[in-house]
Amino acid sequence: MRPLKLGSRIFVDGGDAEETKALKDALGFLDGQTTNPSLVAKNPEAKARLDRGEKFAKQELLDFYKGIVQEVSMLVPDGSVSVEVYADAGTTAQRMFVQGKEMYAWIPNAHIKYPTTAAGLEAAELSVKEGMRVNMTLVFSQAQAAAVYAATRGAHKGQVFVSPFVGRLDDRGQNGMSLIKNIMDMYAVGDGHVEVLTASVRTIEHLQFALALESDIITAPAKVLYEWAENGLLIPDAKYHYDPNGLVPIPYESLDLAVDWKSFAITHELTDKGIDRFAADWNALLV
Ligand code: E4P
Repeated sequence: MRPLKLGSRIFVDGGDAEETKALKDALGFLDGQTTNPSLVAKNPEAKARLDRGEKFAKQELLDFYKGIVQEVSMLVPDGSVSVEVYADAGTTAQRMFVQGKEMYAWIPNAHIKYPTTAAGLEAAELSVKEGMRVNMTLVFSQAQAAAVYAATRGAHKGQVFVSPFVGRLDDRGQNGMSLIKNIMDMYAVGDGHVEVLTASVRTIEHLQFALALESDIITAPAKVLYEWAENGLLIPDAKYHYDPNGLVPIPYESLDLAVDWKSFAITHELTDKGIDRFAADWNALLV
């Protein structure tokens, strides 16, 4: 059963419908799922195939991803499933948009994931104008979150997610959770059309702080959600103390959400690295 005082939606970050099904049974509810190329590569069937020395043809891999997404979608019919386009450093906005449109038709409850780069934001702008739902991924700065807000102005609540990656900031000594708080504070003066999806969650402490902050959505690996279930689906209140363990806080920036998204400094080294890693994991599956 969904805990009554749960203020966030809970998604699992994964690429395996069997895992989703078992987790949903253990939690007693599940609000959605996020997927990405690296998670598809970790799917047991994909791994077994690679172990046999077999790879996928391009269309076959897309069909495989579609199959996973369709199974997952049926497990969370009232929720959302994020499906990520293939992008590398050279992928144009148009190319992302064409893929996004195709993937959007796979299931009735998709959010299309685009990287938060100039090309990804252009693709998002086009997508939102067509009424598609989007999830802007690989966000590592408040400026990128401001650009997502500005590029999707006019969208309705629930149509746009922004995914700041906590764990990957922690990995390099920055307090990823402070970025979540900063983005939520910045959006507090906005119209609410972008929902904050706390991503790259690695620990139960990340999950608990995001719950205490009431991040709109939290996506976490199954193992973190099982740990939460073992703790009785505990929901800390606003007084929850998060110990950053020496991680350096990310300072709040005063940014104007009313300006053109192109005026924000959106490039981030971790976004570029993240794109490269997703593309490499996807390409490693291909013949
Ligand atoms: C979610 O949408 C992201 O793809 C995911 O949380 C990334 O997590 P990672 O940094 O552990 O790969």
